[in-house]
Amino acid sequence: MKKLLLPLILLILPTIIMTSCTEARDTNHLNEIDTSIKQKQHMTENTLVLPEPILKNGTNGENVKKLQTALNELGYNIEVTGKFDKKLTAALKDFQSQQPKLLVSGEYNQPTKDWLAKAISGEFTIKPGKGSVPISNPKETVKVDKPSDILVLVNKSHALPVNYVPEDLIAPNVRFPFEKDLPKRYMRKEAALALEELFKASDKAGLDLFAQSGYRSYERQDAIFASYVARDGEEAANNYSARPGESEHQTGLTMDVTSPAVKYSLTTDFANTEEGNWLKAHAHEYGFIIRYPKGKEHITKYQYEPWHLRYVGSKVATVIHAKGITLEEYLGAV
Ligand code: DAL
Ligand code: ZN
Repeated sequence: MKKLLLPLILLILPTIIMTSCTEARDTNHLNEIDTSIKQKQHMTENTLVLPEPILKNGTNGENVKKLQTALNELGYNIEVTGKFDKKLTAALKDFQSQQPKLLVSGEYNQPTKDWLAKAISGEFTIKPGKGSVPISNPKETVKVDKPSDILVLVNKSHALPVNYVPEDLIAPNVRFPFEKDLPKRYMRKEAALALEELFKASDKAGLDLFAQSGYRSYERQDAIFASYVARDGEEAANNYSARPGESEHQTGLTMDVTSPAVKYSLTTDFANTEEGNWLKAHAHEYGFIIRYPKGKEHITKYQYEPWHLRYVGSKVATVIHAKGITLEEYLGAV
């Protein structure tokens, strides 16, 4: 037995040594891979942190550097300067134009951040420089110079200044389907008092009208519009939602109204409710017009909105109602 044991040990020893060496080699190799993955992860963590929105032309700092680094990682060739300049705007526009759900604004907002994250993780593929960016903004928008005018025209070609906030906002004493004291409860004083009269009259007629959405800041409209663009694409969204600066809600002269019959929603079905029909016949008596009427979409450039009331004062509202025209037509701005 002893005689046999020595040759047997000699026979299996190299195998034992080889196996343990291979294991050692494999373990080393795995350690190397592990370290490399960790390094990559570490690099990714350090270099590809997408900054918080909103960043736009003129912004400077570390967050802009992070954004520039992330775009470079996707193949854009821009210097990491920390300055939000024309080159960064152009790269963002190029990126945004390759995702139909993004607004090609050249600004860094939440939807752009979400799609950049998808592009970096490989979930969404883009070709840097291959986007179809409009050479210049083809839309000529006039800046409204008297935003506080009761007859102010705000539409796709007449925009309010970014910082315009009406001075005399108050919350009308009417029903809302929510409790909170939100900015959307508010209207300019003259419009708010007129809305109270309109509600009193509709109550007398036995109706159940509710106010849903009044004043909106430029920033709020920006967020709302961006979320619709992410959902439906820019063209479709702009059919029912205004770009920031182009919404009458920023004037404080507008209130969207609704009723329980349509579950407090803003839908064209509202036109067929008792409340919707009453408004068509009587809103002008209280100084309001249905701002986006049916059949006038080619003029207003928005879909029919039987819920969107705009205050213009009872004299003008009566003329607009009697003639069956829009505010654009009344002001000779078609
Ligand atoms: N829905 C209207 C057009 C607005 O967004 O102001
Ligand atoms: Zn509205």
